Amino acid sequence: MSSTAENEEKINPNDNDCLDTLNLVDRAIVSRGSTRAFLSTPVERRLIKQILSVAAWAPSGTNMQPWKVTILAGKPRQRLSDAICEAFFSGDNGDERSWKYYPDEFFEPYKARRRACGIGLYQTLGIAKGETEKMRQQRARNYTFFDAPVGMIFSVHNDLEIGSWMDLGMFMQNIMVSARGHGLHTCAQAAFSDYHNIIREHLGIPDNETVVCGMAIGYADPKQEVNKYRPEREPLSSFANFEFYDEEAAV
Ligand SMILES: Cc1cc2nc3c(=O)[nH]c(=O)nc-3n(C[C@H](O)[C@H](O)[C@H](O)COP(=O)(O)O)c2cc1C
Repeated sequence: MSSTAENEEKINPNDNDCLDTLNLVDRAIVSRGSTRAFLSTPVERRLIKQILSVAAWAPSGTNMQPWKVTILAGKPRQRLSDAICEAFFSGDNGDERSWKYYPDEFFEPYKARRRACGIGLYQTLGIAKGETEKMRQQRARNYTFFDAPVGMIFSVHNDLEIGSWMDLGMFMQNIMVSARGHGLHTCAQAAFSDYHNIIREHLGIPDNETVVCGMAIGYADPKQEVNKYRPEREPLSSFANFEFYDEEAAV
């Protein structure tokens, strides 16, 4: 049978009945959503250490464990946020990135998905097309870690290759899923890599490491509309090819 919508598992993170059908791990994965408004409730250092120790069980090519992470809370977090916000609002668009997240030219189907995501987020925030100042303010919210009490900055050695970046991604995802198990939420933040020189200066990250990403971690503010935005996922049939899955051989 070809993969049709009829035998696809439809997962809806906003539907509690659906979440209730999932086991704990799957629920942690599905209930993770990029959170862009946090409560000031602190997160214990012990808990962050536990999450990171769990996340480090991520796989990595030949067990190289290439991830590096700097954790910020309290005054150092505030100082870094202040420095980046000052640069951002003074018109400094940041430093040239040594890596590219996106292609120069977007193309389908990614272009449409990216557009839908931007529109959905801004609609949730009540920002209309052309309201560039409000968009700028929202971008700046990245640099305060969306008010999360804890921030993380991830880096990898410059001489490592794309495989190690995959490993870092798995480590980051483990953090985000483990955080859910403790009632915490997160937002991965590539926006930080635009200000890697300020980050280096504040955190002592050496020149032989690339600042890849940031992450906000804390307790979500349930009253903020922005946290209700959950961009949809494409159906299984759009990305998974079951043509070569022989039912008889598999049972
Ligand atoms: C590596 C990475 C970097 C991201 N950087 C940012 C960022 O800088 N700012 C932001 O608001 N969201 C950022 N996001 C969140 C994405 O927009 C989000 O994952 C996507 O829209 C899907 O939504 P969901 O995470 O709520 O499922 C990032 C996500 C990833 C995986």
